[in-house]
Amino acid sequence: MTTDVVADKPAQETSGDSMYAWLGGEQAIKNLVNRFYDIMDSDDALKPIRDMHKEDLSPMRLSLFEFLSGWLGGPSLFIERHGSPCLTGAHKPFKIDAAARDQWMQCMNQAMVDIEIEPKYREMLTPAFERMAEMMRNSD
Ligand code: HEM
Repeated sequence: MTTDVVADKPAQETSGDSMYAWLGGEQAIKNLVNRFYDIMDSDDALKPIRDMHKEDLSPMRLSLFEFLSGWLGGPSLFIERHGSPCLTGAHKPFKIDAAARDQWMQCMNQAMVDIEIEPKYREMLTPAFERMAEMMRNSD
C-alpha cells in the first residue's frame, strides 16, 4: 500500500500569536511587499538598488512575500519552494554597501508607514529588518 504523503500532511497551522497574524496575515504581508517595490520603483534616489533588480519586479514581489511569510511566523512558503534559504548567498552577486542597505531600509520603513502598520509593531520590526539588511551588506 502506498501512502500519499502530501494528502496525509496536516494543513499548516498558523499561530494567532505571531507577528504575521498581528499584522493581518497574508494580505497585509502582500500589501507591504507590493508597497515596498512600488516605492523602490518610483524614487530616483533609490535607483542604485532598483537597478540591481531585474526589470520585472513580479518574481521578487512573490519571493519577498514568501520569505516574509515564514520569517514573521506564518506559513514557511519560501522554504517550501526553495529549500532552506541562504539569503546572504543570494545577495553575493550584488555589491551591497551601507548606502544600498540604507536605501533598502528606506523602502521598508516607508512601506510600513504607508500600509499603516501600527507604530508598536513598526518599532519591533525596524530593528529586526535592520539586522537582516546589515547581514546582506557585503561591501564597505
Ligand atoms: C540590504 C539591502 C538589500 C539589497 C540591495 C537587496 C537586493 C536584492 C536583489 C538585487 C535581489 C535579486 C533581485 C532579482 O532577482 O531581481 C534580492 C533577492 C532577494 N532578497 Fe534582497 N536585498 C537586500 C536586503 C534584503 C533583506 C533584508 C531581505 C529579507 C528581509 C531580502 C530578501 C530577499 C529575497 C527573499 C530575495 C530572493 C532570493 C532568491 O530568490 O533566492 N533582501 N535582493
